[in-house]
Parts: sequence; C-alpha cells; structure tokens
Amino acid sequence: MFMRKSLIIASVLLSVHTVHAQESRFGEPATDADIAKRFWSVFPDGQFLPEGEGTAVQGAELFVDNCEVCHGSPEEHGIADALFGGIGTLGTDKMLATVGSYWPYSTTVFNYIRRAMPYTSPMSLTNSEYYAITAYLLSANGIIDEKAVINKKTLPKVKMPNRNGFINAYPEIPDKYKTKFD
Ligand code: HEC
Repeated sequence: MFMRKSLIIASVLLSVHTVHAQESRFGEPATDADIAKRFWSVFPDGQFLPEGEGTAVQGAELFVDNCEVCHGSPEEHGIADALFGGIGTLGTDKMLATVGSYWPYSTTVFNYIRRAMPYTSPMSLTNSEYYAITAYLLSANGIIDEKAVINKKTLPKVKMPNRNGFINAYPEIPDKYKTKFD
C-alpha cells in the first residue's frame, strides 16, 4: 500500500513538472510571434498603430458603457481625471490639464487607453472600439469632427492644441534616439 501511494505521488509530481517545463520554455529565445503578442506600444508618430477604425459617434456610446462611471461626461466631471475641456487654460489660474488641453499627441490617447483603460479591465475592448473611443475623446474636446473616421492613417494627422507646449528636457540625446518630432 505504501509503495502504491508513493508511486502515485511520484507520477503526479513528474507530470506536473513536465507540463510546467513545456509551458515555460525556459531558456528558449523569444520568437517574433512571442514578442508581437506582448508588444502594445504605439509611438507618437503613429508607428505600430493596429488595423481597425471608429468614429466619435460610435465611441460616445462605448464611453458611456465603459468610462463614464469614473470620468463623467463633458458636462460633469466624475471621480477620476477630467478628460474634457480646459483648452487655453494652461499657465492660467484656472488651469485644467486634460487629454484635450494638455496631451501633445493624438496617438498617445489611443496607446494609453488601450493599455490602461477601462481601469478595472485594461485591453478588454477591440482595437476598433479603442479607435472609436479615441475619436470620441478628440471630438468631445472639439479637436476633430464627430463623423471623422479614425484609424492608423488618420489618427497621426490629428494635431493636438498643446502640440508645441512641451520642450525637450534632454537636448543632449544622440540623434539616433530622436524621433522625427524632436
Ligand atoms: C473604475 C474607474 C475607471 C474607469 C471605468 C475608467 N477609468 Fe480612466 N482613469 C481612472 C483612473 C483612476 C485614472 C488615473 C490613473 C493613473 O493616474 O494611474 C484614469 C486615467 C485615465 C486617463 C488619463 C487622464 C490624464 O489626463 O492623465 C484617460 C485618458 C482615461 N483614464 C480614459 C479612460 C477611458 C477612455 C475609459 C473607458 C474605456 C476609462 N478611462 C475608464 C479610472 C477609470
């Protein structure tokens, strides 16, 4: 009996070990496909924006369902950061830094909300849904028309009001690390 039990335990341990070794692929170099699965960055110039598209009209509804509970609406701020308004207030006593008034790149809006929002379930929407919500945030801030189709071609062309409000804090950065905007 004792023998039998320890045999069972040994074989269970062995199989757990084998499965684990297969899944972790420890020591193997990551393939391009492995990296692609975890690469979520979109650059300011729009590089690595995915396929998909959406309009502010579609995004307005998605915003109500997924974002408004925390961020409120253009009419009324919620408990989390204000996302609307404040354009022209930077540097005044009434400064309100929002996506519309402060952020220098439209592409960063897509990049940020896809990787971080909704706060409790980031990356849970489709790329087209994130494009639509990005379009809504830009349109509700008066930056684009509500019917504009936002995708990887059109989004980088949207110029944010505070595009020139930032200075390069690291002018000594070698040219090879600079983006085309520096
Ligand atoms: C459960 C509450 C919650 C929900 C839902 C939520 N957010 Fe947020 N959001 C936050 C919090 C909290 C922060 C601040 C996060 C931080 O500073 O790390 C934030 C930050 C942001 C910011 C950055 C604001 C700034 O100026 O720095 C944006 C843009 C944003 N959220 C958009 C969205 C969008 C779009 C959705 C819906 C897809 C969404 N959020 C849903 C809580 C929420």
